[in-house]
Amino acid sequence: MNIYYAPLEGITTYLYRQLHNKYFGGVDKYFTPFISVFPDHYIKKRDEREIDPANNEGMKVVPQVLANSSKELVWIFKKLISMGYDEVNLNLGCPSGTVTAKGRGSGFLKEPDKLEIFFDEVFDALSDDAKMLSVKTRIGYLDASEMEHLSEIYAKYPIKELTIHPRIRKQFYKGVPDMEVFEKALMMSSCPVCYNGNVFTLDDYNKINDRYGYQEGSDLHDVSNGLKEGSADNKISSVMLGRGIVADPSLARQIKGGSHMDKAEFKEFRRALEAMYKENLKDGNNVFNKMKEMWFYMSQSFEGSEGYIKNILKSKSYAEYLAAANTLEGNCDIKSGPNASPVSF
Ligand SMILES: Cc1cc2nc3c(=O)[nH]c(=O)nc-3n(C[C@H](O)[C@H](O)[C@H](O)COP(=O)(O)O)c2cc1C
Repeated sequence: MNIYYAPLEGITTYLYRQLHNKYFGGVDKYFTPFISVFPDHYIKKRDEREIDPANNEGMKVVPQVLANSSKELVWIFKKLISMGYDEVNLNLGCPSGTVTAKGRGSGFLKEPDKLEIFFDEVFDALSDDAKMLSVKTRIGYLDASEMEHLSEIYAKYPIKELTIHPRIRKQFYKGVPDMEVFEKALMMSSCPVCYNGNVFTLDDYNKINDRYGYQEGSDLHDVSNGLKEGSADNKISSVMLGRGIVADPSLARQIKGGSHMDKAEFKEFRRALEAMYKENLKDGNNVFNKMKEMWFYMSQSFEGSEGYIKNILKSKSYAEYLAAANTLEGNCDIKSGPNASPVSF
């Protein structure tokens, strides 16, 4: 099974990815937070840094892009391939109002006819290279019943891998993933499928793997050769984890048979991250705000840490933040066993 670190805007920037890979690893592919492509072939300076190969050395990184015009997508795709990337991921999941209002991210899902024309144009323009395009999708904009038609559309194209996050747009990241719709989409897919959503613990992962993973010895396990032979089946090639790895940075490593993080290791990682942000972010306030984004997800990893985490999130200066984070570290042990699973099947 391939293990992917999900794109998380504001968290999994190249600075974070570098350190996560150095201290914990276990991740087969890191996806960049989405890169918006503007008309006239322009991306932000911040995003140029995300895709600079020098910032992504030593790990497999897949740039993710947000686009709804074939011209924009073809331009960024070609640029990324010429920089040495062998996969580009299209975001069809972002639920943010500013994104969906422009018909991008999950906003594109409410216009399936337009989406189909877009794919026709993209796959036509990219011809053979199009097999390096992967897609990350939700199961609908307004309703999960939309996924059936969306699955028919996806099945028409040689998509490298389809990541399915089984929620609709208005759920954002709340509620339980709709496994029934996921299973139907998996059956309908003509390309390798990656599952994404609410995998927070090793237990959660094992449930997904037991139910949908290829078992040992299966020659369909590896997607590195491209499309699976034959028609759709009910096995997944990969699992993508987001918040679960932020909360427990050793989760991917554990899935690969490695150890659970210990406190000394976490302390080193945290300090390295703070130092890296201090060195790279111009505005000092950004340093503790960035760290707060990570801590927001971390109560799962520390015993009895809720109150301490609240203090971290309330901090208004770097000094206040540091004091609150140190207090948590001094008072809370790292949880060792698998946590209660919020995933239900
Ligand atoms: C703070 C935050 C930022 C996110 N940014 C992106 C993004 O840039 N691109 C994307 O495709 N998904 C983004 N997502 C969605 C995640 O990639 C993932 O699909 C979602 O969190 C569900 O997976 P999880 O339950 O393992 O976290 C974001 C989610 C969160 C919580």
